Amino acid sequence: MSVNRILDYPLKNTEICLNDWNCQIDVVDEFDQILDLLSKEDNEGTLLLPYWAYLWESSIGLAEHLSDNSTILTDKRILEIGCGYGLPGIVAAKVGAIVTFTDFEHDALQFARHNSQQNDVSADTYVQMDWGTPCFQKRFDVVLGSDVIYEEKNWDPIIELLYNLLVPKGIAIFSEPKRKNADGFFERIQKNGFSFKRTTRSISLEEKTIEINIFQVKHAEC
Ligand SMILES: C[S@@+](CC[C@H](N)C(=O)[O-])C[C@H]1O[C@@H](n2cnc3c(N)ncnc32)[C@H](O)[C@@H]1O
Repeated sequence: MSVNRILDYPLKNTEICLNDWNCQIDVVDEFDQILDLLSKEDNEGTLLLPYWAYLWESSIGLAEHLSDNSTILTDKRILEIGCGYGLPGIVAAKVGAIVTFTDFEHDALQFARHNSQQNDVSADTYVQMDWGTPCFQKRFDVVLGSDVIYEEKNWDPIIELLYNLLVPKGIAIFSEPKRKNADGFFERIQKNGFSFKRTTRSISLEEKTIEINIFQVKHAEC
């Protein structure tokens, strides 16, 4: 599939106002209307919804958090998992991080590439990767994950991925919209030798304000 595939989608531009610049993210317009079109089944007949095609509030919360804490990113090797449109990775790349964008949806990666280009940032790579089968021989300083822990079946693969892909003193930063089951993921993270620090930030969107939890995770002994 070529980048031109993006042109097949109805597009809408969203501007995310950060500290000293406005990030331009093109998203699929009328997400609700094309939900049926983009939904598909996996080999076991499980319905896969196109979650990549919505710009989740958690990604805006994480982008703002990274923008406020950009010194932890400069010159770092970053892996963004489940990147969707790639907003947090684009913010990291803007401050000089070397970002690898990953998602198991090919079209999400095309959008992440397109959005990187329109914000004048160049990424290291865009890689189609399932959390259950990570495909890197190298390790990263920082793993970013915005709204990726919503399903319990993905928790162990994501924790395993942190073991295998983070450098010993590396950190992971997750954001999520205060879902009830998130506590379960972070309890499991602790049982597996990681520690975490949680902060909460409020993001303003159109008429509403939404609270997003940001979790910074590291190996407990570091
Ligand atoms: C809720 S969306 C969040 C997208 C984006 N990070 C955001 O916050 O806007 C979850 C993302 O994870 C991706 N994803 C879901 N399961 C995955 C898996 N097993 N391996 C890799 N990516 C996955 C989806 O394609 C989607 O882009």
